[in-house]
Amino acid sequence: MSKIKTVFQCQSCGYSSPKWLGKCPDCGAWNSFSEERQSPKSLKSFAADNAGPMPLNEISGGNEKRVPVGIAELDRVLGGGLVAGSVILIGGDPGIGKSTIILQAISMIAAKTGSVLYVSGEESPEQIKLRAERLSIDSDKILLLSETVVEQIIATSAKMKPATLVVDSIQTVYTEEMTSAPGSVGQIRESAAKLMFYAKRSGTPVFLIGHVTKEGAIAGPRVLEHLVDTVLYFEGDRGHPFRILRTVKNRFGSTNEIGVFEMTDGGLKEINNPSELFLSERPLNTSGSTVLASIEGTRPMLIELQALVSSTTFSAPRRTSMGIDFNRLNLLIAVLEKKGGLHLGGMDVFINVVGGLKISEPAADLAIIAALTSSFRERPVDQHTFVFGEVGLSGEVRAVAQGESRIKEAAKVGFKRAIVPQGNAERLKGNFGIEISGVKNINEAIEQIGI
Ligand code: TYD
Ligand code: MG
Repeated sequence: MSKIKTVFQCQSCGYSSPKWLGKCPDCGAWNSFSEERQSPKSLKSFAADNAGPMPLNEISGGNEKRVPVGIAELDRVLGGGLVAGSVILIGGDPGIGKSTIILQAISMIAAKTGSVLYVSGEESPEQIKLRAERLSIDSDKILLLSETVVEQIIATSAKMKPATLVVDSIQTVYTEEMTSAPGSVGQIRESAAKLMFYAKRSGTPVFLIGHVTKEGAIAGPRVLEHLVDTVLYFEGDRGHPFRILRTVKNRFGSTNEIGVFEMTDGGLKEINNPSELFLSERPLNTSGSTVLASIEGTRPMLIELQALVSSTTFSAPRRTSMGIDFNRLNLLIAVLEKKGGLHLGGMDVFINVVGGLKISEPAADLAIIAALTSSFRERPVDQHTFVFGEVGLSGEVRAVAQGESRIKEAAKVGFKRAIVPQGNAERLKGNFGIEISGVKNINEAIEQIGI
């Protein structure tokens, strides 16, 4: 009998090696290798009838079937709706609301398009029923199945031909062709590949739910991200009711889109006016608080940023940032010291984006500078003023994209004054009912804000 071939695979990134290794040379994880059977079969082609190469202009396209789910915030991140045969991965921390959103989505799909198969390896049908009752969902078109063998799932789905297939979660599913435990990289990749193959062949959209590790990677399989068509990531802080569904990858739409939800007693509620919500509890006339006009994807949003600067009791001051890149904060502190003449060396600095949001765009720089200065000098920023702009290493304020839509959004929420990069101010056309001050560097900005 021939010997079973095994390889050692890194459980965090999928790197494989013929020998056991203590540290993964690819992702740097320690003690992450486990023995797995080498995958027995190579994958077949996705195309049902491969007819060889074809000229581009003879391929019919642009008419992919896209069905809106009916939850506007979800459709937005999907790029307008569900595409036939697409595989969508929804990742997020346990308890963040993945099963909830998917149940709400399939109830809409079931009402409009047809039956949906919901396969759960985590919860019993009774548990799902309980959640459905909480969400006031009841339908004879939502079919529940407790199953963890991927071949069985596909066979059931192939017989039933549902409008959509949901697998909650991909970590619980395994293929009988491999001996390793469910949840290991090999199993996840192999099972997802089989589901992907099924989706492409049958044209059924498939949702995969995936848990996320503490480090933020979709557990084990970063490999999955390459395989699927769309990766949505559920973000949010469990202490806050806000949830953000972010597109990390989308073959059928733009990335960097977000959908905003609020977790309520009756499930996830869409939020169509996030600006008002994120500003609703803003303390007025308090130093350290600044409003930023931010853009997430194509969507402008006003967000409150808070800073607290206080003298340190340690030999090395502390810098803590929530929702802002830590290195970016350090860089801006250095700019403020050198170019703004603020002595933050002996100060602890804390910065927080309200609502548990994360901001990654450079337009937040000027808001961070303003919040830090405001807290340091204990002078509040006027409540009707908002800012945006990128800050460079020599203290210059640089223009950012979509200045106009940021200002329009702020005008809608009732702001009166904007401190913006000179480059943006010059390009503005029209009157927005807002006093606009263009600034060239951080000192001008601080002066204009009046802090
Ligand atoms: P769930 O969708 O089960 O999370 P996941 O599948 O991502 O692990 O949601 C879990 C949390 O959501 C749970 O702590 C309870 C809360 N929740 C509500 O607040 N309201 C609701 O209507 C529902 C269904 C859940
Ligand atoms: Mg769940």
